[in-house]
This record gives sequence, C-alpha cells and structure tokens, in this order.
Amino acid sequence: MIDLHSHVLPGLDDGCRTLAEAVQFVRAAAAEGITTLACTPHVTEENCPFPEVLTRTKEQLQVACQAAKLPDVELLQGAEMMIDPTLADFLTRRLDLTYGGKGRYCLVELPLVDYPLYVERALFDLLVAGFQPILAHPERNARLQKERHLLESIVNQGVLVQINAGSVLGHYGSLVRQTALYFLQSGCVQAIASGCAHAIASDGHNLQNRPPGLKQAMDKIGWKKPTPGIPDSFP
Ligand SMILES: [Fe+2]
Repeated sequence: MIDLHSHVLPGLDDGCRTLAEAVQFVRAAAAEGITTLACTPHVTEENCPFPEVLTRTKEQLQVACQAAKLPDVELLQGAEMMIDPTLADFLTRRLDLTYGGKGRYCLVELPLVDYPLYVERALFDLLVAGFQPILAHPERNARLQKERHLLESIVNQGVLVQINAGSVLGHYGSLVRQTALYFLQSGCVQAIASGCAHAIASDGHNLQNRPPGLKQAMDKIGWKKPTPGIPDSFP
C-alpha cells in the first residue's frame, strides 16, 4: 500500500515535530500495511526548504527507522505545493519537489476557503510543462463543496485527484465527508478511474492529531485488492 501524502518529515511544517515522533508515525504506517510513504511537507515558493535540507531530513528519518528495526517502509521524497500562478516555473527549477525527484508527478493543494481564479490555468501550465499534477484533498475546499462540478473540468484537463483518508472517515465533519464520498461515488479502486478521484492518501501529520488511517479508510469504502490484469488507475 502506497501513501502518497504525509507530513512525516520532522520539523519542516505542521506535521511531526521530532525525529522520535516521525519514527512512531512510520511505525503506525507500517502496521497498517503501508510499504511506501511519500514525504510531502507543505511548500510555497516563498517558503521552501533547500533541496539538501529535504534530502538530509529524509535520510535521517530513514536511518532512525532502521535503528528502530521497523519493517521496511520506503520513504519517497515529494512536497505538497500550494497552488500559485507561477507554480510550473517554480517546479521546473525545483524538480526535487516532484515525487522521487523524477520531474513528473507532483502534489498540489488549494486553499481551504478560496478558489482563486488562476486554479485551472495554473494546473494547465503544469500539464503543459510536462508535470502530472495530483490535486490534494479537493473535498476540503469550501467552493468545491458547494460547486462540485468544478472538479470535473479539472479532472477533464488531465489532473489526478487525491482524497484524504480522514475525509472518508468523517474527521473533518460531515460536509467534507459527503463531498469526499461524492467525488468517490462512482466507485473505489475498480471504478475509481471513472469517478472524480483517483487515490486516497492519509495526509497524516502525527499520531495525536492526524494519524495515517489509510487502511481504515480503504476498508470503509470497501477496497479490494485489484484483480490481476486490471491496470492501476494511475497512468
Ligand atoms: Fe497535506
């Protein structure tokens, strides 16, 4: 099980604060069956750690996990970037912020309340620049909760959508939960590709506040292991 979205890297954002806390988080993720954990700290163009800081923090966590004899969980570098009109240009200069530094998949979030005019254009620019944006937790955006059809045009552009495990589980309230289920409505894993959502991830911050919960969410929506021969929803 791959978790595309977590704030496990310690001391970089509002996620885990210490290395010890981060190790506990990885332990909980491993116990759920997560085998790859993407480390996606909040990033903006104005407030972004240097590449070497991200790499060093991830490596420190990796070493600490090995020392704690945790089951093998692959830590994958990434970032959760706030949408911005110049995001494509910024990302072109900072490919290390894409998943695994491979310059393709990237995680982008919207503000929780606003839905800026430049949202579709900024996502389009990312696609044109050769990136594959994954929109993080659109069900938490106040505008999309009211005007759910807006997500369709984003998906039709070619953007992938990630729903939070906590949203499915009702951790952000009933409106977020209903919106998440609406976006997932046409199914889960088998049918997920025909809905408006393509993945569920934890967006886990720490064990007290927002634990992984991915397994619980997948159970809730009735996820079953994909049938051999049926491709994953991710291209
Ligand atoms: Fe996040």
